[in-house]
Parts: sequence; C-alpha cells; structure tokens
Amino acid sequence: MFTLNDNFCILPESYLFSEVARRINAFKESHPEADVIRMGIGDVTLPLCPAAIEAMHKAVDDESSSATFHGYGPEQGYPFLRDAISLHDYKNRGIDIDPSEIFVSDGAKSDTGNFGDILSADNTVAVTDPVYPVYVDTNVMAGRAGILADGAWSKIQYLPVTAANGFIPQLPEGDVPDIIYLCYPNNPTGTTLTRDQLKVWVDFALEHGSLILFDSAYESFIREEDVPHSIYEIEGARKCAVEFRSFSKTAGFTGVRCGYTVVPKELKALDKEGKEVSLNHLWNRRQCTKFNGASYVSQRGAAAIFTPEGQRQVKEAVDYYLANAKVLREGLAEAGMEVFGGVNAPYVWIKAPGGMSSWEFFDLLLEKCNVAGTPGSGFGPAGEGYFRLTAFNTLENTIEAVRRIKAASF
Ligand code: MLT
Repeated sequence: MFTLNDNFCILPESYLFSEVARRINAFKESHPEADVIRMGIGDVTLPLCPAAIEAMHKAVDDESSSATFHGYGPEQGYPFLRDAISLHDYKNRGIDIDPSEIFVSDGAKSDTGNFGDILSADNTVAVTDPVYPVYVDTNVMAGRAGILADGAWSKIQYLPVTAANGFIPQLPEGDVPDIIYLCYPNNPTGTTLTRDQLKVWVDFALEHGSLILFDSAYESFIREEDVPHSIYEIEGARKCAVEFRSFSKTAGFTGVRCGYTVVPKELKALDKEGKEVSLNHLWNRRQCTKFNGASYVSQRGAAAIFTPEGQRQVKEAVDYYLANAKVLREGLAEAGMEVFGGVNAPYVWIKAPGGMSSWEFFDLLLEKCNVAGTPGSGFGPAGEGYFRLTAFNTLENTIEAVRRIKAASF
C-alpha cells in the first residue's frame, strides 16, 4: 500500500486561522443573535481600488478577442508588472533590483511556504517567536522541524520577541541557523525594526553564511522614517536575503491573489559537491515546473496600482486601516491594556489582561464582547499571554469593538 509523507502527519490538527474560524463559527451557531466583529485573520474589508478594477475589466475584455487574448503567461510574471515593480518598489527608492530578479506569484503565503523546496532538508531554521505560522508549518512539512513538545519544535530555533526585549529579536546564541525568517513590519506583533537593527541581521547572515527569508508583506504600512522598506536597503543584503512582497494588504488582493518574490542574482548556495549555485536560477527552475504564473487579469490589476492614480488610491486605503489601528491602540490603552504595534502595521498586539492565557482571553472576548481576535499562543510559545487584533475591519466596527471592550472592563 502507498504511504504518506509522515511530516504531514505530525502537524498540529489544523492551521491556526482555520482553528480560529472554526471556533468563531461554533460560537455563531450557539449564539445566532450575536453580532460578532471579526478581527482575527488579517483579511481586508475595503474593495479593490478603482484603478485596479478598471485595469482588470480591461484585461477581461482583452481575453474576449483572439487578437488580445492571453493564454499561458511567462511563469516569472509579465514584463509590464516586473518592470513596474522594479521601478516603483526598488529603483525609485535607490535600490537596484532588476526585473529578472522579480518573480510574480499568487501571493507571499505560497512563496514563503514554497521557497524551502530549493533548500536542503538538512538546513537548520530560526524564527522570531511569535511568528506567522506558515514558516514553521512548511518546515515541518519539509522535515526540518523535529518533534513538537510544549508548543515548540525541537529542531527550530525560536528567537523570542516580547515586551521584555522591546520586540527586538536577539541574535542566536550557540548554533548558527542556516535559514532565518524575518517578517517586518511584523506579523503578528505589528512592531518594526530600524535600519540599524535590521543591519545586525544582514551582517550576521553574511558573516555566517545564513540565508534570510524576509517577508515584507506589510511594507506599505510603514510611515516612520527610520523603518526600512526593503531589506535591500541594507548593504550586502543582495548576497544573503530573499524578499517576499504581497499585493494583498497593500491593495486588497487577498481574494484576487498576486504577490512577488525577489531573488537577487548574487545569492548563491552550495550544492553537495560544494559548488556555488544561483538561487535565482533554481527558483526559476522550480517555478517553471510547478507554477504557471499569476493570472493575466490579476497582474494587470496589480500593475495599475503603480500608476499615479493607483498609488494615491492604495495609500488612501492603507491610511484608512492605519487610522483603525490608531483607534485600537488608543482605545485599548484607555481600557487599561498594554498595547504594542499598530503604528507601521495593521496589527495591534496586546497583553491579555489579568494574566489570562491567550485562548482564555479569546473565549472571554468572544463571549463578553462578541469580538474575535487571534490568540498569541497560536503564533508560537512566546506569544502565550498575548492577543492580536487586526485593523482591517471597518472604522465603524473598530470603534464599536473598542466601545464593547471598554464597557466590559477586563
Ligand atoms: C494573518 O492574519 O496573519 C494573515 O492574513 C494571514 C495571511 O496573510 O495569510
């Protein structure tokens, strides 16, 4: 009889956000009258901006005539989008990223999860803790994680980011990890690193031959000067880092799907014989085999956000969510809670009041206020006792959620 990839069998029963959704749905079933405000998964609520909608309508029309029809596109993405990304997200910021180093995809979740395909299963992995669960779960699938005990995987190095260290991950002591996942602005804590703080990691990776997988899905939320928009602002990062970006939170593409990954040409890894191989070359090989490109329609929509109109419109949407984050930050602080993040990010990270565990607070908040968030412990052991709320709901619901939380006086 055929057998399974056992790595999948040792995964926890469900993915964090599926479990959160399951519990909210169970609550809704037993309390059909409850008007639940969902601030759990970071899904956007504003519609796509008019520039993207117009471009996508036009792209659909292109598909209706044989003269303008597009079938399979380039696996790496259409030149019109790769060129626009290279110019607007990099060259205009003084960063040299060539279109050939950009791989358009259906989003950062798949790319951060899939990138491990081209890396040896023997590599050791470090993550900041708490962390976006995709990085950990996909390494479990690849056999790099060891066994799970007390919420932590034995072969993964967890680098705690908590109030105690100001949410700044400290360099690993002891074993040097081969692969380091960093996500800034951070999901789930909503905190950031300054250029100098990120440089510490780039220098470490260069010195020790580690690879940084840098998830920059929340880049468009950066408003403060000293927060780097790309890891390639740091000297030497082209030799040690891959960067993942997404149009999901920037431009409301959570449903439409489009993102991209930057794999610089200088980035090399060793094969079994000790020969240097280009990661750009191997990622391209992987994508050509396993991926047929993001749809023409989504890519036209994504390209439209780089027009002056599109830029203005997406900034307006991000500003709207950041205003929600401010309502959350200030309101929850007034309610006596310890609040972090939410300044350059759509996530607000709070300490569960009264020493409650993350899931205890999840249940109580849902029960008493009909507000759903995400328990911090679901993001890793150092998330225990914390809780995440997203700023992606409407302003009205955000204000209402804060009102209910204040009234509940935890
Ligand atoms: C989150 O809530 O952490 C994100 O929405 C999840 C994702 O982007 O996949």
